[in-house]
Amino acid sequence: MLSGKSDKPVAVVTGANRGLGLETARQLAKRDIRVIITSRNAGKGEVAMEKLLAEGLDILFQPLEVTSESSVAELGAFIHSRCGRVDILVNNAGVFLDIHGAEDAGGASVFNVSLETLTATLKTNLYGPLLLAQELTPLMKQQHYGRIVNVSSGMGQLSGMEGKSPAYRISKTALNALTRILAAETQGYNILVNSICPGWVRTDMGGPQAERTVDQGVAGIIWAATLPDDGPTGGFFRDGQPIPW
Ligand SMILES: NC(=O)c1ccc[n+]([C@@H]2O[C@H](COP(=O)([O-])OP(=O)(O)OC[C@H]3O[C@@H](n4cnc5c(N)ncnc54)[C@H](OP(=O)(O)O)[C@@H]3O)[C@@H](O)[C@H]2O)c1
Repeated sequence: MLSGKSDKPVAVVTGANRGLGLETARQLAKRDIRVIITSRNAGKGEVAMEKLLAEGLDILFQPLEVTSESSVAELGAFIHSRCGRVDILVNNAGVFLDIHGAEDAGGASVFNVSLETLTATLKTNLYGPLLLAQELTPLMKQQHYGRIVNVSSGMGQLSGMEGKSPAYRISKTALNALTRILAAETQGYNILVNSICPGWVRTDMGGPQAERTVDQGVAGIIWAATLPDDGPTGGFFRDGQPIPW
């Protein structure tokens, strides 16, 4: 392998130190993909990297705070110098902040959500994926290959929109809009951009009552990250099946 170039496909997973992100990184690496795991906390990221390296997987680590333009630019520089390519971007990092300060256990109401909560949620769940796409899509266009997976949620579906958890819901609806816009602006470049919902998964975010295992949640992410060239773009999927916006 030439210095600064990877012969293998390269994937970036945001928020890969735990939960769906960590398992997504593991399963992509098991498919002979070099995976750059990222974490906003360097210590946690290094622990995750050591764990995956001990499993014999091809893993690199780069700190990444998805809300920071300079941190995203540093990831771009890292990719250029260490890999020279990027084939897959999984925008997985996300926060669910509505619950904090909620008056009941069902999540904050639209009538008491603060702009602080809304802004913090949008910064991670929407602006982060936007910044990552802005940074990495030019390289994907040059390569004429890219797969971008925006990890969204059924809670962002307009078709079944309900009350409570407004910041999270709005952020995922907006992320779905970003998916459509990115897909439209990458037509003709063999870049496929899709939103996926992993279902309700037993992670720190989903909680112990969630109905799905991490493996079940990750399956749809891997599907979208490894689509063939004639696969869909600009869609919303759960378990590889289209779901309404
Ligand atoms: N679990 C579910 O039931 C479910 C359902 C639908 C959709 N989702 C979506 O799936 C994705 C992953 O969820 P999960 O269940 O695995 O959640 P999780 O266990 O809470 O993990 C979230 C990850 O995102 C990282 N993160 C948060 N803010 C970040 C930031 N500003 N910059 C960089 N990293 C940041 C966290 O880092 P730290 O460790 O430093 O906090 C952590 O690694 C999220 O987008 C979530 O909305 C989850």
